[in-house]
Amino acid sequence: MSGSALTYTVAPSSRASGRIAVPGDKSISHRAVMLGGIANGVTRVGGFLPGEDTLATAQILRELGVRIERLDETTLEIYGAGLRGLRGASKPLDCGNAGTAMRLLTGLLAGQAFASKLIGDASLSKRPMRRVMDPLRLMGADIRGTEQGTAPLAIAPVPALNAIRYTCPVASAQIKSCVLLAGLYAHGATTVVEPTATRDYTESMLRALGADLVVDGLAVTIRPGNTLNAVPVSVPGDFSSAAFFLVAGLLSRSGELVIENVGLNPRRTGLLLTLRDMGGDIEILDERLQAGERVGDLRVRPSALQAIDVPIERVPDMIDEFPAFCIAAAAARGTSTVRGAHELRVKESDRIGAMASGLRTLGIEVEEFDDGMAITGGSTGGGEIDSRGDHRIAMSFAVASLRATGAIRVLDCANVATSFPGFEGLASSVGLDLGVT
Ligand code: S3P
Repeated sequence: MSGSALTYTVAPSSRASGRIAVPGDKSISHRAVMLGGIANGVTRVGGFLPGEDTLATAQILRELGVRIERLDETTLEIYGAGLRGLRGASKPLDCGNAGTAMRLLTGLLAGQAFASKLIGDASLSKRPMRRVMDPLRLMGADIRGTEQGTAPLAIAPVPALNAIRYTCPVASAQIKSCVLLAGLYAHGATTVVEPTATRDYTESMLRALGADLVVDGLAVTIRPGNTLNAVPVSVPGDFSSAAFFLVAGLLSRSGELVIENVGLNPRRTGLLLTLRDMGGDIEILDERLQAGERVGDLRVRPSALQAIDVPIERVPDMIDEFPAFCIAAAAARGTSTVRGAHELRVKESDRIGAMASGLRTLGIEVEEFDDGMAITGGSTGGGEIDSRGDHRIAMSFAVASLRATGAIRVLDCANVATSFPGFEGLASSVGLDLGVT
């Protein structure tokens, strides 16, 4: 979001060990602020992710008239305005780099009695928004984007939204959530049907707040009418942030790494299964339920990894973890393949292209497909990598230093702060030799 140049210079190191906790879950933090903003009562959020993406969402809710107090770095109090209590903002709402903010807010704002404009940074302004505009238009919403179907998005008020039954063309929690949020303001029952299950935080949180929401297999139905009543939210550590340290712990030559209090929602932990299938020694300690969400501490030990063909049905459950997976595959014995992951082309960067070109720079053999890649494990050299302003690409190549023979310079790393404030310090604390300029 800041857009400023920031370079990581990561010298080779051989050990990642210790006991750490990663920042709060990004998906849950976004939703806590949005739903707290339209609930009745005060929502106290603990473990909130103080990243640029989620702070952008909090700022937007403030501009829509919601009082939000930040009690400390990770604790918020949201004074809900009620379902009909938001008011129009005087200026465009800036989602920064956050696709989740833009796509979910488009659904939330489509049925309001005021106009809104959503804008984002250069990366977000290139990402596909028709996927949310299409269903919302079927509901009767008035939303305009650019001719390419991208932001800025201008939302005008309409007299009413119709309920629809919508089958998502791609597995996307953002599309599902967008339609469900609009469904809160529609006449009748709105149903979203997913091709494969995706993260279900919107459904869980809506239900906890008292919404009339029913899940039947891959179909989720919401009926408007119920008021939403604030409940406290305790955000676990983000599995997607833990993922970099899982891979680091496996690539380490000695010691062990424990990552505490990580959210283990099964729709998020595909990488855990994949790394274990590759021979990774990862144990879940003290598994528990926290407000209905599975949480645990992850203990990871150095492991000799074997290549894997990632099962296609597992792709949605590890959709944000492919950059980290690619670093594990580069250190594994044999050729790993990923297919059915076309969505990676339209994330914060084209993650297939970004990882393929970065890995090749380090001397790893990569074949690129439209919907995936094949990576042959081998020895990793040093070199200069363009992260393309993508937080997860930047962090992944920092972790590659655990098997590199030379220094890795990673360019354009400022956006790590969108999801993982403090990554550099935490990475150094476990043993990575990471400098920032
Ligand atoms: C998210 C859903 C996923 C994921 C993103 C966060 C969410 O996107 O990649 O980082 O919080 O709903 P898609 O729904 O587009 O797959």
